[in-house]
Amino acid sequence: MRIDILTLFPQVFESPLNYSILKRAREAGVVDIVLTNIRDYATDSYRKVDDKPYGGGPGMVMMPGPVFDCFEYVSKLSPDKARVILLTPQGQKFSQAKAAELSKESRLILISGRYEGFDERIHIGLGAEQISIGDYVLSGGELAAMVVVDAVVRLLAGALGDEDSPKDESFSEGLLEYPQYTRPEVFRGMKVPDILLSGDHGKIAQWRRQQALQRTKKYRPDLLKNSYE
Ligand code: 6GU
Repeated sequence: MRIDILTLFPQVFESPLNYSILKRAREAGVVDIVLTNIRDYATDSYRKVDDKPYGGGPGMVMMPGPVFDCFEYVSKLSPDKARVILLTPQGQKFSQAKAAELSKESRLILISGRYEGFDERIHIGLGAEQISIGDYVLSGGELAAMVVVDAVVRLLAGALGDEDSPKDESFSEGLLEYPQYTRPEVFRGMKVPDILLSGDHGKIAQWRRQQALQRTKKYRPDLLKNSYE
């Protein structure tokens, strides 16, 4: 997969892209992630990329010109047709299902903005879908883009050491994950459940399923409700 990220702050992405799973996935050629600075496509001598909103109001709005020019340049860097995503609080809420859907694409172009928002003609003109990562306001789309990249890349074949691990985890079946334990068997008086030491894999699987359901009922009843809708 190739992921292009268009941003005013490419440096924000450097650290998370260079550790752990994302770093390994990039080094292994599972994903190619390319950062491009939208400001390099500003056309005036002040490198201006935002302006006051028509009609008045607080804050600044990202101008369409630099974003379109940057997008058109980046589009041509690879022959693959890309799914284009604008990170904005106005978008559809991101989910594990959306991550799984995006992980099947060969190319993504993510556009993250700062300031109060994007000129409306950006998402219309680029045919971009809009994604939000939740119902709260961030100072920009960079962290949201990073969240999408992380959730998608770890689903790509070869990104995780153990190919099986994405199957069991929280949300992939609409349930929270079952409780996990490792050594020691007793820690500060708290014991690992006997069933996990029994060696009976059938019983263990059954117990885990039941624990996952119980936990979901307790902590995220909304997830159970959604699975019947
Ligand atoms: Cl994508 N952008 C901003 N600025 N805030 C957000 C968001 C995105 N998703 C949730 N909050």
